[in-house]
Amino acid sequence: MVKMETAELETDLSLFKYDNLEQLPPRYRDLDEDERTERIEAALAELGDDVVILGHNYQRREIVEHADFVGDSYQLSQQAAEADAEYVIFGGVTFMAESADIITDDEQTVILPSMEASCPMAGMAEALQVDAAWAEITAAAPDADIIPITYMNSYADLKAFCASQGGLVCTSSNAHRAFEYAFERGDKVLFLPDKHLGENTAYRLEMEDEIAKWDPWDPEGKDAEDVAESDIILWDGYCQVHERFREEHIEQVRAEHDDAKVIVHPECRREVVEAADKAGSTATICKTIEEADPGDTWAIGTEIHLTNHLQRWHPEVNVLPLCGDACMDCNAMRQIDPNYLTWVLEELLEGRERNVIEVAPEEKDLANVALERMLEI
Ligand code: 13P
Ligand code: SF4
Repeated sequence: MVKMETAELETDLSLFKYDNLEQLPPRYRDLDEDERTERIEAALAELGDDVVILGHNYQRREIVEHADFVGDSYQLSQQAAEADAEYVIFGGVTFMAESADIITDDEQTVILPSMEASCPMAGMAEALQVDAAWAEITAAAPDADIIPITYMNSYADLKAFCASQGGLVCTSSNAHRAFEYAFERGDKVLFLPDKHLGENTAYRLEMEDEIAKWDPWDPEGKDAEDVAESDIILWDGYCQVHERFREEHIEQVRAEHDDAKVIVHPECRREVVEAADKAGSTATICKTIEEADPGDTWAIGTEIHLTNHLQRWHPEVNVLPLCGDACMDCNAMRQIDPNYLTWVLEELLEGRERNVIEVAPEEKDLANVALERMLEI
């Protein structure tokens, strides 16, 4: 594997590198890998069909290895809807586990091994804040039917809000279809929280001239006139892991590998998606590498654990991280430490449910409407 030069970037990586094991009983903090694997396997054998483990593509190897299903956000929500195990252990982040709780039956319990696994982007659009913005946005365009669409990376109360206004949820694999759904029913879309996915989707639909930005933190960043004139209003949220990729990384990888192709996640900046050969959800990235010919070179612009998995799963393909050593892992995803997995499974064996994710009943039904609309498009 060729090691790429690290490009200069202004983000302080140390901000994203902490593991929080505080919630874990001390006897679980220093388990060695062999012992831990043995204990996880023994617990899973005893729990049998009572437990299913769902793992997002960004999870650590030690979680993915124990998962019954590994996939992107959309596939995991489908798996949760089909699961009939009593316990769904979610290797992912809070908003994904919430969605699983909404979609599964009332008798099923969703467990997130670590409560620290919260996606910062989801926290960039809080329902209360969106409520206030909604009043301003609807006042700016009083005659328009505005349909709110929230990316899966958002909390249940925001999903419920979107459903209450005729909107829905989408993932990176179906955002364009969600926009089409909304434009069949309304005049404008408010898309939250990821401005990059929103912008990339607007381009895909050839509606790039219809974009207004809404920055709830900046009084100058929300222009009522712009909102009145534009069909797509984008909330100013973003993912730190994906904002890191720049066009110069693509130029560099192409300069170093004549035959390299580049695939990036649509949470990347517009210029990066435009410069890449392909963009798509984590499932699309996996499929692209699965279908590559031996000897092909692909540089990947997404979270580093997935790139590492793809290197292990497909040694016949030359898989490169798009910005070399500067590619980041998702700190939220990384909080699902395998020691936490050991703990929640062994607690279940003792009849104790730990880290249960339960969406408030008043939000659950409406959020479910928003998710079901997505599963139907
Ligand atoms: P996918 O829907 O592509 O799996 O992405 C989820 C995510 O959080 C990307 O940062
Ligand atoms: Fe959130 Fe980004 Fe992590 Fe995805 S990679 S879960 S958007 S912080």
